[in-house]
Amino acid sequence: MVRHPSDEPLTPYGNRPMVTPIVNSVNYEYVDFDVLRQITNGEIDGYTYHRDDNPTVRKVEKDIAHMEQAKDCVICTTGMAACTMVYLTYLKAGDNLLTFHDVYGAHYKVCLMLERFGVGVTWINADEWRNAGDYVKPETRMIFLETPSNPLCKIVSIPHMKAVAEKAGAMLVVDNTFATPYHQHPLALGADLVIHSATKALGGHNDLMAGAIAGSKEHYDKLWFTRQAIGTTLDAYSASLLERGLKTFHLRAKRMAANAMAIAQYLHKHPKVARVRYPGLEDSTDRDVAGAQMQHGFGGMMAFDVGKTQKHAERFINSLKVMYHAVSLGATETLVCMPYLTTMLYMPPERRTTFGVRTNTVRLSAGVEEPDALLGDLEQALEAI
Ligand SMILES: Cc1ncc(COP(=O)(O)O)c(C=O)c1O
Repeated sequence: MVRHPSDEPLTPYGNRPMVTPIVNSVNYEYVDFDVLRQITNGEIDGYTYHRDDNPTVRKVEKDIAHMEQAKDCVICTTGMAACTMVYLTYLKAGDNLLTFHDVYGAHYKVCLMLERFGVGVTWINADEWRNAGDYVKPETRMIFLETPSNPLCKIVSIPHMKAVAEKAGAMLVVDNTFATPYHQHPLALGADLVIHSATKALGGHNDLMAGAIAGSKEHYDKLWFTRQAIGTTLDAYSASLLERGLKTFHLRAKRMAANAMAIAQYLHKHPKVARVRYPGLEDSTDRDVAGAQMQHGFGGMMAFDVGKTQKHAERFINSLKVMYHAVSLGATETLVCMPYLTTMLYMPPERRTTFGVRTNTVRLSAGVEEPDALLGDLEQALEAI
């Protein structure tokens, strides 16, 4: 849980509420022109209009900045809004974005839009991160990656990619949604910006959508400008739910990682499971790189292939009684879905299976349930295929 020096307003009685009040006001009265001047000059953290800033949102921004060891953080409406804000803020026509096939599926759509605006996009298979330097172009201005990646939990070395970015004169942006700040601090490893879909483990309860971008004060100022211009400001109620989620984040992240490790080890030995992708497994080829940049374990996400066909995987999922068949991740409940039919559905058919996802691949997000209940559920569902 985050406790840091607070400059939150006191109540009229001079004490401080334990929970940040939900401020629903869209605009704020200037008590005099001096206050207006101080706000516009940035001398005080005052408020004008919700699209600019909101006190409930601001408190959570400070919490997440603290968790990511950042100077500041901009929160916005969704994880994809956060990614898009980063692209809009730092890329222009003629620039090149170097990114990985192994990123969340919606990037494919956003990259098509970037190309319409004249930004070139170069895609690399995350298995090839050691050769990423070969893909850099003179106009490469940003490298964007996820590690562990969605959905196959491929690991990319952040320090290696920092060296590639530095040589190219590009910025390095890391989506830390799968790892979470419990396991990984990309800024400390050389990233310029860290992004979250706070919809996932930071919120943790399937009841809010939010995105977060953390980094230096200079980056905060630039991203704030973008948010204020395009209006991706989060509502105060969602910010309050997010504040509540953050209070138990470390407990949940610890339990999710322990459950994921137990599940991965169980599946790894099961004859009906052909492949398990979890960076914490002893024989994972990613384990050393993951171990060097992650701490307290390897996170709550994994992917595995059930039986031999899509029908086998569907029958397995249909037989689950404790786990839920649903998209999203990082929640208190264990969630499973088939990337081929969900997060990758709208990609061209050849891209859906070229980079390691198969028609029987299942993605699993470990929840915080009792591990025995989860292992028992897997056992009976695998029996049913
Ligand atoms: C790694 C990753 N980044 C970003 C996103 C997008 O987040 P949101 O759904 O909050 O827009 C997702 C969504 O699943 C994700 O898995």
